[in-house]
Amino acid sequence: MRDRILDTLANEGILLEPSAADMVLTRDDPLNFVRSALSRMQQQPLVVTVDDLRPFVAAPVVRTVAPAMEEVRSGPPAPPPRDDGDVKILRDITGNSTCEGNIIDFARYFNDRFRKIKKILAGRRELVGCLPVSKATKFDRDVRMVAMVNEVRTTKNGHKLMEVEDEEGRCPVLILKDSPLANESIVPDEVVGIVGKTSTKGDLVVLNELIRPDLPLRKGMQPTDSWASVAFMSDVHVGSNTFLHKPWERMIHWLRTEGKDEVQYLLVPGDVVDGIGIFPGQEEELEIDDIFAQYESLAEHLKEIPDDIRIIVQPGNHDAVRPAEPQPTFPKEIFKLFDSSMTLVGNPCTVEIEGRRILFYHGRSLDDWIGSVQGLSYNNPLEAMKEMLKRRHMAPIYGGRTPLAPEKEDFLVIDEVPDIFVTGHVHGAGIGEYRGVKMICASTWQAQTPFQRMHNFNPDPAKLPITHLGTGETRMMDFA
Ligand SMILES: [Fe+2]
Repeated sequence: MRDRILDTLANEGILLEPSAADMVLTRDDPLNFVRSALSRMQQQPLVVTVDDLRPFVAAPVVRTVAPAMEEVRSGPPAPPPRDDGDVKILRDITGNSTCEGNIIDFARYFNDRFRKIKKILAGRRELVGCLPVSKATKFDRDVRMVAMVNEVRTTKNGHKLMEVEDEEGRCPVLILKDSPLANESIVPDEVVGIVGKTSTKGDLVVLNELIRPDLPLRKGMQPTDSWASVAFMSDVHVGSNTFLHKPWERMIHWLRTEGKDEVQYLLVPGDVVDGIGIFPGQEEELEIDDIFAQYESLAEHLKEIPDDIRIIVQPGNHDAVRPAEPQPTFPKEIFKLFDSSMTLVGNPCTVEIEGRRILFYHGRSLDDWIGSVQGLSYNNPLEAMKEMLKRRHMAPIYGGRTPLAPEKEDFLVIDEVPDIFVTGHVHGAGIGEYRGVKMICASTWQAQTPFQRMHNFNPDPAKLPITHLGTGETRMMDFA
């Protein structure tokens, strides 16, 4: 996977001397390290050497955050969440992180992704008798294979040429410009099934069919005898000067009165505070400019929620945890600020509540999906969530805006199909369904910020989606 990292940098015009490449690959997040170092150099060298990078090695690993935030992030971790009554933690990185970010970790990480998704694809009739990639072009007949996409580019004749690989080899795959697949959005590092024919010259495979792992065809949630409901409240952004105090009070009032018997569980999928130094000029948009004070204020806000509602909180990209996904839960220092009845989990996390499997993921990768797949936009995050389910991966693209930590297991593969799939991040609100999976985008409690206005980004705040765990019925409460 060394090539993958170096190719990504080369595409950005960054060339590394071999010894500089070795040094970079020992870093926690190699891409971010190089980008950050270059941004701090007065002049970008033609070829980056070890000497160019040395001054930045001692510095804390990259990112434009205030030191306090970095210190908090790297503090000792909170204990992993435990099963409690009707809430079972099925999958969470907290306490299971082993990655050091070296080249072996990357190879193991991508191999794990490949194997997990290959296992899903292996059940597909179209892929019976599939060959290893290295053998595909050696046979003068139809070929079937499972492979990870390295890159897709357009040839000078207007065809698309995709390079794919498996554990043993690589192979070029041609998508003809008049093929129905010519406009298919294929993203880097996704794992696909390929049905094609070897070219007459025997140097590539011509694609006839692209098989995605996708979800099995299923009806929606089958009724159970649960009477409980779960509410989803994403992107609270306490500490921002556009935090919506009034709608928040209306929502609390509703939970204490009319909604008293309706909601038993509350899931909070990340960006629980606004954080510090997350984007340039953020200090101008803060009501609370101390990271601990932001979490203290959040803890106070959450105390207003009736005690009999079980609260499960996950971090997002604004929170004081490591930015690379999967993100373990909050550090101990922050954990201590919350009421002990709360469950703090990592991102993403799969929980089972009263028999329903809920996958909740803050959704940082929505930026990458929207930037890479034709037809997706911030106005309809549910469509992007559907792309994740089709590819059975929440954030396949390495080297995009979502930093990925090469854990020994790829926690972002969707190998088990959830009943409910929840994201936030884009500050939109929506309810949908894809092949029996309920999809929820869980709004925000922050009004449009100047930064968002500058980027023409319109949030849909102060909505509270609520799902009945017995029937699966979901409605959107509006406190705006
Ligand atoms: Fe957010």
